[in-house]
Amino acid sequence: MSRKRVAVLISGRGSNMQALVEAARAEDYAAEIVGVISNRPNAAGLSWAADRGIQTIALDHKAFPSREAFDAELRKALVGIQPDIVACAGFMRRMTSDLVNAWAGRMINIHPSLLPMFKGLNTHQRAIDAGVRIAGCTVHLVSEEVDGGPILGQAAVPVKTTDTADLLSERILAVEHQLYPKVLHLFASAQIKVTERGTVTFEADIEDNFRISSQFNALIVPSTG
Ligand code: GRF
Repeated sequence: MSRKRVAVLISGRGSNMQALVEAARAEDYAAEIVGVISNRPNAAGLSWAADRGIQTIALDHKAFPSREAFDAELRKALVGIQPDIVACAGFMRRMTSDLVNAWAGRMINIHPSLLPMFKGLNTHQRAIDAGVRIAGCTVHLVSEEVDGGPILGQAAVPVKTTDTADLLSERILAVEHQLYPKVLHLFASAQIKVTERGTVTFEADIEDNFRISSQFNALIVPSTG
């Protein structure tokens, strides 16, 4: 099986990137993580990846005069890595249209809310303040609208009356680490497809196998059954 080459963009601890790297160790996983790029040179995730022999690139956004200049360099770095798919994992930079469009249909992101609710920052506190009883995370295609691209998969967790933003974030992060590797595998193996018009389609047996994960009390969508 030929695996899809994946570059991961991070800005910090990189726990989602780690979950992708760990998942990709399985023989039948449809993707391999071939590079990790961070806009913060001291991101903990960079050294974690380098220690495992993965190519890492630090591109300090502060060293560039403009967003356009930074994104142009990022594009070059990506061309060097030659990924089939770019996976954003806690990459805290808004991207220019040029960059987004260059990777249209091939760049994905994980966001810690059930989109389209709570796009943007501070999602956990906003979910608590809104009084929602279910929160979660979403893997979606990156489009020009921040957190607005077609949804590929979601996982849900309960919100408790005693929750703080930190507690909720911990509960969601645990399912992020389950959801992102699953969705990347399904996307890389074309079991989830996106048409030119942005419509998402799943292979039938995936949609028939949405399931409850007893470990996290979470509904994982989609699931490999
Ligand atoms: C995650 O909650 C992710 O959904 C959000 O930023 C956080 C990054 O965490 N976009 P990590 O760097 O993957 O640990």
